[in-house]
Amino acid sequence: MMEPTSRNRFAYRVTAQEVRFVADTATPKYAFFGGEIVPFDQAKVSVMTHAFNYGTGVFEGIRGYWNGEAETTYIVKLREHFLRFLKNCKMMHITVPYSVDELMDVSVQLVEMQDMRGDVYLRPIAYKSSETIGVSMEGVADALTIFASTFGNYVDIDRGLSVCVSSWRRTEDNAIPARAKVTGNYVNSALAKNEAVVNGYDEAIVLNPQGFVAEASAANIFIVRGRTLITPGFSDDILEGLTRDIVTQLAKDELGLETRERSIARSELYYADEIFFAGTGVQIASVTSVDHRNIGNGEVGPITGALQRLYFDAVKGRNPKYMEWLTPVKSHALAGSETLAAS
Ligand SMILES: Cc1ncc(COP(=O)(O)O)c(C=O)c1O
Repeated sequence: MMEPTSRNRFAYRVTAQEVRFVADTATPKYAFFGGEIVPFDQAKVSVMTHAFNYGTGVFEGIRGYWNGEAETTYIVKLREHFLRFLKNCKMMHITVPYSVDELMDVSVQLVEMQDMRGDVYLRPIAYKSSETIGVSMEGVADALTIFASTFGNYVDIDRGLSVCVSSWRRTEDNAIPARAKVTGNYVNSALAKNEAVVNGYDEAIVLNPQGFVAEASAANIFIVRGRTLITPGFSDDILEGLTRDIVTQLAKDELGLETRERSIARSELYYADEIFFAGTGVQIASVTSVDHRNIGNGEVGPITGALQRLYFDAVKGRNPKYMEWLTPVKSHALAGSETLAAS
């Protein structure tokens, strides 16, 4: 049920029963905003901001995992996230006046200052910032913000997910490129995810305009047939996911499994032995039913389970072979956090 809130009759909130699975997100303490790190409540934009009105922002979602034994937060593929970010900014004619190394440094500083000693989520957004009416991006100023928050599981990864094929199609490359990770494109994701949730599913699988499987609302998809992993290719209207790369490498190096990139027809989903999603948000999430059809025997499959374990060992810094994926943030740096905040 939607109920008017007491303070404003035009503002609504949902009651607890309606929230099926909401990741635990705490308010950040600081944000990089206007070229410096400021207290989070000072990082504000006007309602006239171009990106707020037209969705002209490029963003990233980056996780860091806390390893208590090492007293260290390991940020996953930080460099690769910012390389993708800058490519996408170029696509959107957004200028970011920082190098990848500088963006990494600011991110590390925010994680140190946030002082969480728990898992962390970094959200950089570069956006068209002028307060102007009109969709052209010509002459419109650019801005950048980055904040760090806590972020629990985005979907329940301790059991298999029940998903549907969405009635919404993925935006095609010549409309809004899925690979661009542009804020406006997440209307497509929001429509698909919301439709799935209100219909009682955990997630949606979205088809591209040609009717082939693209991805989940905010994750890449893999199907398993025998001992082969299959995932849609870059011309199937997908985001070029970094977790997708991690999965492909772990499958090959640790399990001796090849991944084939090719288009997947909708009905092939029902034939699959296993299906799982891969993404920074969902991590590795098993799909055990699609459109009320069990996948395999309806339980988390052995390859998905093995990849999940390998993934968490790697991203939590427990497998020395994959340390190069991780940017460590030692907790002893926390001692200086208040000084940084004050400067
Ligand atoms: C639409 C979409 N596809 C795929 C992914 C997975 O990308 P990555 O593994 O780089 O997080 C995401 C982000 O999590 C996404 O939003």
